[in-house]
Amino acid sequence: MELLLYAPQYRPNMSSMIRSAEFFGFSRIYIYDHNQLLAPPKNKKGRADMEHLARVWTAGAVDHIEIIKIEDPATFLQQYPGRKVGTLVDDQAQHLNTFQWQSEDLIIFGSEKDGLPPEIIELLDASVYIPQVGHTNCLNVAVSFGIFVQQAIRSV
Ligand SMILES: C[S@@+](CC[C@H](N)C(=O)[O-])C[C@H]1O[C@@H](n2cnc3c(N)ncnc32)[C@H](O)[C@@H]1O
Repeated sequence: MELLLYAPQYRPNMSSMIRSAEFFGFSRIYIYDHNQLLAPPKNKKGRADMEHLARVWTAGAVDHIEIIKIEDPATFLQQYPGRKVGTLVDDQAQHLNTFQWQSEDLIIFGSEKDGLPPEIIELLDASVYIPQVGHTNCLNVAVSFGIFVQQAIRSV
């Protein structure tokens, strides 16, 4: 099982997902860094601050997980050997409680504002939804990440 973050927009969310991935035992995580969150700032102080923040925000997880940047997500997905499983805020998607995970699945998380774009949804083999009960129509991406990953790894 592997993980792909598609165009995260906020460093705290991205850091939190890296931290959770490492906590759950993943040795690598793919990131399509469309918003340049992984790019080091140009000046020296900015770079030092960012390195410090990367360690603090991920609680040291960055030292134990490989972060693999994806430049062309469509090609990456077309060539990916396992199922591509998108997490979608869509009640027509399969509900998490009944979804059958497979050990070769790639779980894909969308960006905070826009989720996954249509050209990526087209390439999915399956899509999964955490059903809404209250009035708030979706979860924070990093919160949904923890729920999906915990459920997926315990069921394969
Ligand atoms: C804040 S949501 C995106 C909201 C966006 N307006 C949309 O409708 O796709 C950001 C990401 O968190 C994940 N997510 C949040 N709530 C979810 C839910 N209830 N079911 C499945 N994925 C969810 C998905 O990966 C989603 O792309």
